Amino acid sequence: MSDKAAYREAAEDWSARQYLKFEDERTRPPRDLLAQVPLQSARRVVDLGCGPGNSTELLIERYPDAEVVGLDSSPDMLRQARERLPRGMFMQADLKSWTPQERTDLLFANAVFQWVPDHNTVLPRLLESLPTDGVLALQMPDNTDEPALALMSEVAGQGPWSAKLTAANAARDELPRPGAYYDLLRPLCRNIDIWHTVYNHVMAGPEAIVEWFKGSALRPFLSALDDDLQAGYLAAYTAEITRAYPARYDGRVLLRLPRLFIVATR
Ligand SMILES: C[S@@+](CC[C@H](N)C(=O)[O-])C[C@H]1O[C@@H](n2cnc3c(N)ncnc32)[C@H](O)[C@@H]1O
Repeated sequence: MSDKAAYREAAEDWSARQYLKFEDERTRPPRDLLAQVPLQSARRVVDLGCGPGNSTELLIERYPDAEVVGLDSSPDMLRQARERLPRGMFMQADLKSWTPQERTDLLFANAVFQWVPDHNTVLPRLLESLPTDGVLALQMPDNTDEPALALMSEVAGQGPWSAKLTAANAARDELPRPGAYYDLLRPLCRNIDIWHTVYNHVMAGPEAIVEWFKGSALRPFLSALDDDLQAGYLAAYTAEITRAYPARYDGRVLLRLPRLFIVATR
C-alpha cells in the first residue's frame, strides 16, 4: 500500500464521538453549502460521507418528502448516524468506486472529498450520474497552508516519532485551485458556483484547537503511534499551536479555517 493510501485509510477510521465535540462549528459549513443548493424539492438525496448524521439531519429538514440516504465508509460513523436518526437510511460504501444506482437529485458531500483521491475521475463520474437539474454540492477544508496543518507535519519530522510518521507526513495533498475544478466540471453541467469562505472559529484555548484536529486531520498521525509517542507528539504539537494561535483579550483563540465550496447543476 502506498504512503498516501495508508494515510487515507487511517483517516477513514474516524471516531464519531471526537468529531462531534465541535458539532455546532462543524455543522455551519453544510448549512452554508445547503443554502446555495438550487433545488426546491427532491425525490432522492444522498449525503456522501455522512459521518455521524449531522449533515444528513439538515438534508432531512430541508427535503422532508425526499428519500434521504446517508453513505459512509466508517462503521463507527454509521452506528452514530443510525442512533441519531433511527428512521434514516444509511449504507456503507466507498466513494472511490460508488455511483448511485437509482435516479438521484442531489449528491451532497460536506467535508469528505479531501479524503478521497483522484477527483479527476471520481467527481465527473458522480456528476454525470445525475439527471438534468440534478446537483452535486461539495465542501472541503482548504487549509493545508494554515499553521495548524503545517505544524502537524513540522512536529512529525522532529522527534522520536518521526520514522513512524513518514506516511502521515508525506500525505495530505493541497486542494487543486478553483480553476481546475471549473475546467473539470463545467463541461458536464449547465451551471457551476465556486467560492471560498474563511471561518474564524472561537475556541476556548490552544488545547481546543488540538482537540478539534484530533477529530480529523490528526487521526492519521496519532493512529501510527503507541501511547507514549502519541503523548510526546501531542505535547510538542500543543506547544507549537500555543505559539501560533495567540490568546485574544479574553484568553480565547481564533481558529482560521478556509473552506472551498462547489455547487454544480446538471
Ligand atoms: C469530516 S466527516 C464529515 C461528516 C459530515 N458530512 C459533516 O458534514 O460534518 C468525513 C466523513 O467522510 C467519511 N469518508 C472518508 N473517506 C470516505 C470514502 N472514501 N468513502 C466514504 N466515506 C468516506 C469518513 O468516514 C467521515 O465520516
